[in-house]
Amino acid sequence: MRAADLDAVLAVQAACYPPAMQEAAAVVLARVSAAGDTCIVAEDDRGVCAYLFAYPSTLGMVTPLGAEFAPAADADTLYLHDLAVAPRAHGRGLARRLVEHLLARAQGLSASALVSVQDTAGFWTTLGYRPANSACADALASYPGEARYMVRPLTGPGVPSPSCSSLRP
Ligand SMILES: CC(C)(COP(=O)(O)OP(=O)(O)OC[C@H]1O[C@@H](n2cnc3c(N)ncnc32)[C@H](O)[C@@H]1OP(=O)(O)O)[C@@H](O)C(=O)NCCC(=O)NCCS
Repeated sequence: MRAADLDAVLAVQAACYPPAMQEAAAVVLARVSAAGDTCIVAEDDRGVCAYLFAYPSTLGMVTPLGAEFAPAADADTLYLHDLAVAPRAHGRGLARRLVEHLLARAQGLSASALVSVQDTAGFWTTLGYRPANSACADALASYPGEARYMVRPLTGPGVPSPSCSSLRP
């Protein structure tokens, strides 16, 4: 993701979330500055059609809605803050490919975590994430509707095998 992608990223966000969940342009730009290596986009013939914002964090931590990223010096977890695919590109495996792309580069981290919103727990389960506990109740409460902390181990027992669909070209 580059700063020049900002307008297109905001358009995807607007198409995917209600007004109460829109995050400000300045926060989006600050995240790219803080964690550019783990903020990525996908493009189709009309331009940016999906994005994933992530950063190195610690297990159990939750980023409140609208907060800037604070990458952890002693990170053990790749925290996926926001994944969105424009409706025109749904169902093509883009979300899975964005997540697997970052996870493949998460060397040295033992887990990936996120907050599932908008009834997406089933989607995240498909990608190997499971509900888990977080002590960050205030941060979870910053999300409208049900917000569920979920974790996928990246090392040790319980690591999911790559599925056939994640190997699609
Ligand atoms: C959720 C979202 C990212 C999925 O994007 P997508 O590109 O259509 O998803 P994919 O095509 O990569 O699907 C990956 C897998 O999840 C499954 N899946 C997709 N949406 C699902 C859902 N709502 N519930 C359960 N499974 C789902 C697919 O069937 C696919 O399974 P497979 O690989 O075993 O065939 C997209 O619908 C979206 O942007 N929603 C709005 C924003 C949002 O809520 N983001 C999540 C915030 S936590």
